[in-house]
Amino acid sequence: MSKKKTILDIQKMKAEGEKISVLTCYDYPTARIMDGCGIDVILVGDSVGVVVAGHENTLPVTMDEMVYHTRAVLRAQPKALVVSDMPFLSYQTDLTAARSNAGRLVKEGGAAAVKLEGGENVAATIRAIVDMDIPILAHIGLTPQSIHRMGGYRVQGKGDAQAEQLLADARAVEAAGAFGVVLEGIPLKLARQITAELTIPTIGIGAGPHCDGQVLVIHDILGLCEKYSPKFVKKYADVKTIMTDAVSRYIAEVKGGEFPDEGHSFN
Ligand code: KIV
Repeated sequence: MSKKKTILDIQKMKAEGEKISVLTCYDYPTARIMDGCGIDVILVGDSVGVVVAGHENTLPVTMDEMVYHTRAVLRAQPKALVVSDMPFLSYQTDLTAARSNAGRLVKEGGAAAVKLEGGENVAATIRAIVDMDIPILAHIGLTPQSIHRMGGYRVQGKGDAQAEQLLADARAVEAAGAFGVVLEGIPLKLARQITAELTIPTIGIGAGPHCDGQVLVIHDILGLCEKYSPKFVKKYADVKTIMTDAVSRYIAEVKGGEFPDEGHSFN
């Protein structure tokens, strides 16, 4: 039986040149399935607010919601490393709140690590949380919680100045003690340069093939999210069509009196 993955296993994968697979997950049955497939890292992302709760962006997601979804995923007892997202306003106001909210995701949620967005601007926060022995996955580039500053979900790091800032952000989160960093929505050459320079693993999403690992949102790869369809998303299944067919047949059988038959009834 394979053992539970730790941040050390994930870092070793970079050292040994093995790519790291990461998917988002927010519930027990999905966690069971993806863990059975051998996913390396499960990210309980604040994207739950968009793909599950139907919000326009991730900003309304609360700490209680993140704890709830993290606990649901942990009930599947996954072998994968479970990382839980710190939602907007759970770490930006002060270090004490950041530390206690990171602690809730570990203590109440059961996560083994937490993720937060930002580079140089959150280095002190990363250090403060790492100092209480909670591993941090950093997240730079297109950071969805900064949607209003970015003016929408736009590729980041395109000009020289922005690229320099992203390099500085990558160096800052590594120096602050993050065990890895998500690179979202940045040009592939910049992602390659950051990946080559850092000793911690880079996990790309819309950052090209040269990162140490890749992450996507589970609803996107299953064809369950119609709201946004960014260029970097690859649809591996059309679950919407499968669900539409099953629900339509159920309705038709109930209306036609075919369901339930004797085989689905008690004598
Ligand atoms: O919230 C999320 O799902 C994320 C990933 C897609 C990186 O932050």
